[in-house]
Amino acid sequence: MPPLVLQERMYDRRGGVVPLMQFDDLLRELIASGGPMPQEYALLNRTLRQLGDAVRAKVIARDDVLAYAQDITHRHLEGTMQARALGKKFGYSGDFEMIEAIYTLQTAQEPHLRRWDLYFHSQAAPNAVRNRKAYFHQLLHSHSVGRSKAPLNVLNVASGPARDVREWVLDNPEREVFFDCVDAEIHAIEHAKKLCAPFAQRVELYHRNVLRFLPAKGYDLVWSAGLFDYLADRSFVYLLKALMAVTRRGGEVVVGNFSDFNPSRDYMELLGDWVLQHRTRDHLRELALEAGAAADSIEVQWEPEGVNLFLHIRR
Ligand SMILES: C[S@@+](CC[C@H](N)C(=O)[O-])C[C@H]1O[C@@H](n2cnc3c(N)ncnc32)[C@H](O)[C@@H]1O
Repeated sequence: MPPLVLQERMYDRRGGVVPLMQFDDLLRELIASGGPMPQEYALLNRTLRQLGDAVRAKVIARDDVLAYAQDITHRHLEGTMQARALGKKFGYSGDFEMIEAIYTLQTAQEPHLRRWDLYFHSQAAPNAVRNRKAYFHQLLHSHSVGRSKAPLNVLNVASGPARDVREWVLDNPEREVFFDCVDAEIHAIEHAKKLCAPFAQRVELYHRNVLRFLPAKGYDLVWSAGLFDYLADRSFVYLLKALMAVTRRGGEVVVGNFSDFNPSRDYMELLGDWVLQHRTRDHLRELALEAGAAADSIEVQWEPEGVNLFLHIRR
């Protein structure tokens, strides 16, 4: 029996629900067989893409697809990463717990749910998130290597679980690097406090909204990933200006933002209600100029998936 949302709309005069019905047929087959196997990922991605095309062509409303996703997830996929994204436990899909689950490749215990989580983790966007942790580590390496006596002061803006900080310090105990981490979610701060407990003297945690408060010590490296892709252009420029102001001369601000090339976008938006401000390299450069960065101090780089861009501004 098709879910209610399909039963109600099955005879849409414009044939609007057909791509959704095709998607539903496939999903039901995969649910019945215990979840997608790797050889089925391409078919699932293609069918999802067709559904995304139908939404973009306004053949079907995004809200109808989302209602469908809520329904089928609630009935068959509770406990999966997808259900967690839709559940928005802390108010939005990409909260610190989701990011932590992506870093640590968490999967449900039940085999039929686990396959859905393996599919989730195989996609470009979670790979890009894991890659950005490595990108941050590479930055910390290049900024800290060869520094004679002066310690490196780092500001981590919207630090989430701070797993990236923990791994860096554990792997590089000899480097004199100090982190100030700011996050607006108290549960993220408490989680980060536990992860960073073994080296608490190197990590200061601030439970604050970065749009209202930044510690103003003066930093050699200011890093923010997973925040600017939620900000409208105006807030982006406002916060970037503030980050530039707390960066020392000779230091660097590096801000992550998902690019307009994101093969997981349909999955995120239609099945996870996970909507980001995707931006092009040119757009990031324009916003940096608007924030007052000199044209020759701006560079845009990316991680190996090409999904997460990084705006660099040298001070
Ligand atoms: C997607 S997570 C990224 C976490 C971390 N930067 C990482 O990449 O591992 C986004 C984090 O931003 C925090 N956040 C969102 N808005 C914020 C704000 N205005 N001020 C401070 N933190 C914020 C959330 O609480 C969440 O922990």
